[in-house]
Amino acid sequence: MIAVLLVGGEGTRLRPLTYHFPKQILPVAGLPMIERVLKQFAAYPADNRLSNPDDVVGGREIPQNTDVTFQECVLSLGYKPERFVQTYPDGLIDGLRVSYAVEPEPLGTGGAVRFAAEHVGVTETFVVMNGDVLADISVYDLVRVHFYNRRHGALATIGLVEVDDPSRYGVVDMDASGQVRQFVEKPSPDEAPSNLINGGIYVLEPQVLDLIPVNQMVSIEREVFPELVAAGSLYATRMEGYWLDTGTPQSYIQANMDYLERYMKLSDPPVAGANQIAEGVWAVGHPIVRGSVLPPSLVMNGSLIEYGAVVSHSVIGENCIIGSGCRVDRSVVMGGVRMMQDSALEDSVLAAMVEVGEGAQIVQGSVVGEGYVVTSGSVLSDVRLPINDQ
Ligand code: GDD
Ligand code: MG
Repeated sequence: MIAVLLVGGEGTRLRPLTYHFPKQILPVAGLPMIERVLKQFAAYPADNRLSNPDDVVGGREIPQNTDVTFQECVLSLGYKPERFVQTYPDGLIDGLRVSYAVEPEPLGTGGAVRFAAEHVGVTETFVVMNGDVLADISVYDLVRVHFYNRRHGALATIGLVEVDDPSRYGVVDMDASGQVRQFVEKPSPDEAPSNLINGGIYVLEPQVLDLIPVNQMVSIEREVFPELVAAGSLYATRMEGYWLDTGTPQSYIQANMDYLERYMKLSDPPVAGANQIAEGVWAVGHPIVRGSVLPPSLVMNGSLIEYGAVVSHSVIGENCIIGSGCRVDRSVVMGGVRMMQDSALEDSVLAAMVEVGEGAQIVQGSVVGEGYVVTSGSVLSDVRLPINDQ
């Protein structure tokens, strides 16, 4: 089976982090996001069994022993494709063979699916996934549910998750058989027909490609899904398990926190070559820790945590200096950052090579872009800097 991973968006909500990199290259607990996303596909067919036999499709009979092996994963690229090629020049990501379909111009989520599918010559059922979704759900279950639905005329099956506020997602209303009655992309809160949202993972039949006009901007959510609903051929099923869309600064920080928590309980390292230097504190190589690093945290090679500095629940990239008296909490610090003494970082992200002046405070979901210098004593709360430097 072929998987298409949509990774061509500009990541506008994550600016300035995405001025220099597509969001899927940004690290999540030390590994490029795309490697965490692709684990979904690498796991099959090793785990070729139904994870949730009783309620996946309400106990109805679904095909057994479906072969779900991902021979190929196509990355649908548009924004800064060279960053993927530079990072993975041999076309292997975490052992999985990938190919690149680079759009000459942005085609939207629907146009991109058609472009990528034609690039690799899709002729059979295939899977599409939004490349900014981190999830521990069973793609295998979803494929099997789709094969069941296909007997009832489904051309596509969407994996759904339940959220409190559906307004930033695609929202689905379906009947008891899983047939979708309504798909509304980003409705206002009072217009959302349910709390079940499009989890950004679909199983599609190749006929869906015929509904997508060639080489033009098409949204799968706003154009293709409503057309399938009208034809009665869109189905959906609820997925259980961890799920997070990493598209905003808050959810990007949350993704890092979630993976730090997860590796606190695992004996496997979050990044190859990391060792636990204290319970839940992982280090890659030989950082110098003179101050305190509290779990769960990850500190990369070549970094220095000075006397009196306290790092907790955070990721510190390579070759950083966290000065004496600094506090870093629930934050992501990328490579080469220097925090001068007594500065503080909380719930925020510093891109590579940022310099934070003495006593500065950066808090509440702030995001500071590559190489930016934060002057001594300044207080940044819920801000992004710089804002207009493209
Ligand atoms: N190749 C390509 N070309 N990829 C694109 C393009 C494009 O023109 N536009 C967006 N993408 C990629 C993004 O990189 C991302 O991985 C994915 O498509 C989805 O785009 P987002 O911009 O992240 O969409 P969203 O998060 O607002 O909403 C989507 O995801 C939600 C779940 O996370 C929709 O599919 C919603 O319906 C869904 O609920
Ligand atoms: Mg998204």
